[in-house]
Formats: sequence, structure tokens, C-alpha cells
Amino acid sequence: MKGLLAHLHAPIYQTRLRVLTELILPYLHEGDSILDVGCGNGTLGAKLASAAAGKGLSVKVSGLERFPRGGEPIPVSSYSGGRFPFDDRTFDVVILADVLHHELDPDALLRECARVGRRYLVIKDHQLAGPLAKARVSLIDWAANAPYGVKCLYRYNRPAEWNAILHDLSLTTEGLYSSIDLYPPFFNLLFGRKLQYLAICRIPES
Ligand SMILES: C[S@@+](CC[C@H](N)C(=O)[O-])C[C@H]1O[C@@H](n2cnc3c(N)ncnc32)[C@H](O)[C@@H]1O
Repeated sequence: MKGLLAHLHAPIYQTRLRVLTELILPYLHEGDSILDVGCGNGTLGAKLASAAAGKGLSVKVSGLERFPRGGEPIPVSSYSGGRFPFDDRTFDVVILADVLHHELDPDALLRECARVGRRYLVIKDHQLAGPLAKARVSLIDWAANAPYGVKCLYRYNRPAEWNAILHDLSLTTEGLYSSIDLYPPFFNLLFGRKLQYLAICRIPES
């Protein structure tokens, strides 16, 4: 069952990687250091680095994981949760892609990301918007994570909750995408669009 799910999910995941890379790339600068928090298999970070190279930009991407999988295409640091093993403002860009809804204490995780970041905090997650949103997002969350043993909490924010979270952290958005064509057409209709959320947040000076 897990193998079948992973097989079915693979082409959907590839489209997701391409779309997210296209959306994040314009915000990267030459020489950026990027931390991909909850990097999983590390392919998003690796794809961003190669897409940046294709645009003539050299960026350095590393990952931070609670449960490293091994064999990732980027260097990955392991930690057991709580405070990140990095000084304040270490990275130009911090990415949290589909991690917050797996975390029991998302506020603390966000604060750590904002602490170690200098310019942008990129948040990709889900949002509850549209008909049967909770059921649809729970299904795609389960299907995407069950093959890799990642625990799902089935807790997602509504758009107003996302706004409040960013406001509490004094994060302003330079890019806000609240409907994303993240998957191939049929899957996108069911699981993409308004269920997907991406915010490129400016990190305050201090
Ligand atoms: C759905 S996967 C997303 C993987 C990757 N970011 C991507 O977009 O392909 C969520 C990952 O977040 C990791 N994770 C969950 N909570 C975490 C935390 N507090 N710190 C670091 N990683 C965490 C999980 O181990 C899992 O690999």
C-alpha cells in the first residue's frame, strides 16, 4: 500500500516541486544562504539551487530535520526540536514547506525560523478555504505523507488565522499566494488551488 501510494504520488510531487520553485525563485539573490526547515528528502532545496544556477545565481541550500531520511541531495542538520542549532540571523532565507501543520507547537517553530532568518521566511502550507476543504486537504496530506511515515495532525489554518499568525510575528508579506495550481490538472481541481498557501514574508530587522 505504501509503495503504491508513493508511486502514484511521484508525478504529483514533481509538479509541486516545479511550481514551488518557480514561485520562490524570484525572491532569491546572488550568494543567498537558504535553510530548508523540515526538508524531508531535500529535493525542494536541491531543485531551488539548480533552478537558481540556471538563472546565473549561486545560492547555498542546507536542510534542518527532526527525522533525517538519509541520502538527501543537500547537507542536512539533525535536531530534536526546540531551539535550532544556529545563531540569530544566520540565513538569508528560511523555508518551511508543508511542515507547520505537522508540528505540535507551530508558533514556537515559526519563532525559531524568524530568529535564524535575515531577509525572508517562506511559508508553504495548506489553508481551509472552499467546499469540503478539511476533508480534501486531510486526504492529500495523508496520501503524501503515509508512504514516508510522517505523522499527520490534520490541523490546518483558515486564511484569517494565517493573517493573525503573520501579524503576531510582525511578518509582512512581499508575496502572498492563496490559490496555487500546485498539481497536475485533475488533482489540482480537488487538492490544489485555494487549499494551498504560500507567503513570502519579510523578516523584521530585529
Ligand atoms: C510533509 S514533509 C515536507 C518535506 C519538505 N519540506 C517538502 O516540501 O518536500 C514534512 C517534514 O517536516 C519534518 N518536520 C516536522 N516537524 C518538524 C520540526 N519541528 N522541525 C524540523 N522538521 C520537522 C518532518 O520530519 C517531515 O520530513
